[in-house]
Amino acid sequence: MQKKILLLGSGELGKEFVIAAQRIGQKVIAVDSYENAPAMQVAHGFEVINMLDGAALDAIVAKHKPDFIVPEIEAIRTERFYDYEKQGITVVPSAKAANFTMNRKAIRDLATKDLSLRTANYRYATSAEELQKAVAEVGIPCVVKPLMSSSGKGQSTIKTEADIEKAWKYAVEGSRGDVVEVIVEAFVNFNSEITLLTVTQNNGPTLFCPPIGHRQERGDYQESWQPANVTDAAMAEAQDMARKVTEALGGAGLFGVEFFLADEGVYFSELSPRPHDTGMVTLAGTQNFNEFELHLRAILSLSIAEVTLEKAGASAVILASGNSDNPTFSGIEKIAALPKTDFRLFGKPTSRPYRRMGVALVSDVIGTPVEEIVQKSKIAAALINVNK
Ligand SMILES: Nc1ncnc2c1ncn2[C@@H]1O[C@H](COP(=O)(O)OP(=O)(O)OP(=O)(O)O)[C@@H](O)[C@H]1O
Ligand SMILES: [Mg+2]
Repeated sequence: MQKKILLLGSGELGKEFVIAAQRIGQKVIAVDSYENAPAMQVAHGFEVINMLDGAALDAIVAKHKPDFIVPEIEAIRTERFYDYEKQGITVVPSAKAANFTMNRKAIRDLATKDLSLRTANYRYATSAEELQKAVAEVGIPCVVKPLMSSSGKGQSTIKTEADIEKAWKYAVEGSRGDVVEVIVEAFVNFNSEITLLTVTQNNGPTLFCPPIGHRQERGDYQESWQPANVTDAAMAEAQDMARKVTEALGGAGLFGVEFFLADEGVYFSELSPRPHDTGMVTLAGTQNFNEFELHLRAILSLSIAEVTLEKAGASAVILASGNSDNPTFSGIEKIAALPKTDFRLFGKPTSRPYRRMGVALVSDVIGTPVEEIVQKSKIAAALINVNK
């Protein structure tokens, strides 16, 4: 049963997904806005288009007639997905899931208003004046995020009233899309944050992976680890919320559901209807199937009997320091010599400061203190230098 998959977005997560698909004989066309993107390097074919351009999307869908459309990023003209579903193409996990998560508003209103999940108190604003009013309502400190952005772009924390004007300007700069609108969220004083990888299936129950802990800096994750230390009560709350929100979005596939764990309970934050960057820790062999294999199997309606923890592990990102059209790496021999350690270099054709170029992966037997593994992964990642 060879299926044709149109992968929209060809970064490092897409690349691992293509590798998983290749391993079981599927056909993938990888799409992105630039040539030689990581996933294109391992796919059967590729297309370079602006995925926010609906006509360009229509054209490649008509050309390739895929069985599945698998979005890997948010910045896609997802309104078109409803049409593709009507044409009989399966959008993964569903047109609704991709469309609702393209913009922070739809998913947040669904979670808070329709599903009554615990979220940070929030308001929206479309001008500096509205932001002033919204901040007064949710209180200081609070976090401002453009509705259309990811990786922390345009996101800032308001600590005093004097920050409001700055936060608006910063959000405008970091926003993608035509109309600028922001969400203002009360700051959650969490003890830790987790990603709960959740797999919805056509032929089986919803499965939950062991929780993944992570640390964020500049809006991107720096290290992630599995299993995260989560109480049974918090785990039950998170699973219940993940089940509700993934059920409401529909379809089969893997979701990365983000939660804040605070003294007062678990907060739903946001979710990706696709493999999550913090889930790269599963490339360390922490589970019987990594997150990309789980996504693929769920999409192909191959029943997943169970997800099991096989090892404890951590991932630490390898970042570029400067701009380059030909980035090279040094230190590979050093990281390769470390025990219980592996790494990925994504093959991105260009670098810029803080661009994620690779990841270090460390694992050990279950029960090893995860802090030790995280520390080892940071040391391993630091051995690799991205040269300009
Ligand atoms: N209300 C909040 N209170 C406290 N911290 C927050 C809040 N909202 C976001 N953060 C912090 O900022 C990080 C990024 O926020 P969020 O996940 O909403 O944005 P993002 O840009 O979509 O990130 P990504 O796409 O990389 O997941 C969170 O993981 C968390 O560490
Ligand atoms: Mg996030």
